[in-house]
Amino acid sequence: MENGMLIKTTDLTKVYPMGGQSITALDKVNLSFAKGEFAGLVGPSGSGKTTLLNILGSLDVPTRGSAEVLGEKIETLTHRKAAELRNHHIGFIFQTFNLLPVYTVYENVEFPLLLLGMAPAARRRAVLAALEWVHLSDRARSRPAQLSGGQCQRVAIARAVVKKPDLVLADEPTANLDAENSHHILHTMADINRDLGTTFLFSTHDDKVISHLRRKITLIDGRVAKDEPGPAAEKRP
Ligand SMILES: Nc1ncnc2c1ncn2[C@@H]1O[C@H](COP(=O)(O)OP(=O)(O)OP(=O)(O)O)[C@@H](O)[C@H]1O
Ligand SMILES: [Mg+2]
Repeated sequence: MENGMLIKTTDLTKVYPMGGQSITALDKVNLSFAKGEFAGLVGPSGSGKTTLLNILGSLDVPTRGSAEVLGEKIETLTHRKAAELRNHHIGFIFQTFNLLPVYTVYENVEFPLLLLGMAPAARRRAVLAALEWVHLSDRARSRPAQLSGGQCQRVAIARAVVKKPDLVLADEPTANLDAENSHHILHTMADINRDLGTTFLFSTHDDKVISHLRRKITLIDGRVAKDEPGPAAEKRP
């Protein structure tokens, strides 16, 4: 992979068996992402956005072709190596937040660091810093049920970035938020992108998300139909 490249797919293809037939979710996708990008996948429902994010996050494997992420070829990774790549280098933000309801905000954000075996003092510093990035320091002891949807999504962002991953993959991160919260979430992620150099790749249907993108990729029927500068391309990181 060329210098400065974080992701490169080569004829990446994913076929799901469906009874006697099969569904081609990704069809020879060739995409590269450099470090520090703030990019979004758009396209109709079923066009392959989630499938692509899942493969790049080593949660799924290609049927054919290659997906190289941070120098690792996803199709060749063992389960253990895939988990290592995820735990150390990739943060995930899901549409439905996926917070652990019985744990506090603090504990939810701390969780990825426990997986890394980080020492307690360093862990505490990292969690407090992450809560500050998302402006939730004062809610550390709350549980998800005591927070608004926008606040829950900010906890999910803090959890995704607390280990300072190279890459954050976000699957429709604002799907459950109102307009004000969506913009707020995007501003928070853009700040983290600028300050930490974290690469963000989203899938979205949301015009409010699209307005913040510096690169916009349109998938149609599992193919890259368009790859163009996004509305925020001009803004310097
Ligand atoms: N586990 C699976 N088994 C069979 N087919 C699947 C599976 N996951 C996805 N598909 C199919 O692959 C295609 C791409 O799905 P994908 O979830 O990637 O689309 P998407 O662009 O994320 O859509 P949406 O905008 O609705 O989230 C769809 O036709 C879907 O039905
Ligand atoms: Mg999807």
